Amino acid sequence: MKFENKVVIVTGAAGGIGGQTAKAFYDEGAKVVLVDLSEEGLKETAKKFDFADDRTLLVTCDVSKEDQVINYVNKTVEKFGRIDVFFNNAGISSAVAKIAENSSANFEKVMSININGSFYGLKHVLQVMRKQKSGAVVNTSSCAGVRGMPELSTYATSKFAVTGMTRSAALEVASENIRINAIAPAYINTKMMRNIECGCGGEDKQEETYHEFCKVVPMQRYGEAKEVANAVLFLASDEASFITGALLPIDGGYIA
Ligand SMILES: NC(=O)c1ccc[n+]([C@@H]2O[C@H](COP(=O)([O-])OP(=O)(O)OC[C@H]3O[C@@H](n4cnc5c(N)ncnc54)[C@H](O)[C@@H]3O)[C@@H](O)[C@H]2O)c1
Repeated sequence: MKFENKVVIVTGAAGGIGGQTAKAFYDEGAKVVLVDLSEEGLKETAKKFDFADDRTLLVTCDVSKEDQVINYVNKTVEKFGRIDVFFNNAGISSAVAKIAENSSANFEKVMSININGSFYGLKHVLQVMRKQKSGAVVNTSSCAGVRGMPELSTYATSKFAVTGMTRSAALEVASENIRINAIAPAYINTKMMRNIECGCGGEDKQEETYHEFCKVVPMQRYGEAKEVANAVLFLASDEASFITGALLPIDGGYIA
């Protein structure tokens, strides 16, 4: 029970990585605040994992809207009194297209969710953590926040920003007992990768594209959301007490 009575916020909690990570924190004794755009998805997640009402709070939120982010932070403090861990994870992939052909509307949408959403969350959660003089944050960057990604340059642009935000913010609060790290997953078996596979080869070739993608991972397979959750729990735990500003790849060797 490494997180017994700790208060943990997970954004993108109705998704693959967010859902499994919320479950892993819950199983270690945490009170979990599940935040997502999809109200139905949140309810399904809470039901699927059999989360008890007294240890769970569901908040529907579009993370690209600052007032809605303030709302989930306030509701967390109202119900549970503090914030020990923040998994700043909600995000979307971009359309699969070369920059010259990409729509500006898609670029702006991805930036507003992946960058603005991460920024608003960090800004308002840090205000609570600085008063407490404690906390751990894990931001979700990506292997696309470390290396270039042709035809996913919009997504890569947004995730490089998350990497930069993580490192800079970590330095700002390093002396205040608050740690901020990021994870850099690649090819994780969730809905997001199904969208990218369909975007690359077309829906009829999704299965084929999946097998092609497996071949570019040194371990020759996708990762599972549970494997990402394990790394997030480590970074958020006291076992990582001297780790801040780090970017941890969870990628079967892809970045190496
Ligand atoms: N799957 C991968 O291979 C992979 C690799 C690297 C990074 N990531 C990152 O991991 C994170 C989680 O992705 P996932 O793979 O679990 O995908 P997912 O599609 O299963 O989950 C994403 C969740 O975010 C939610 N969301 C989307 N827009 C939102 C908004 N405006 N406000 C609130 N919630 C919103 C969705 O409803 C969904 O539940 C994302 O930041 C993604 O960029 C995923």
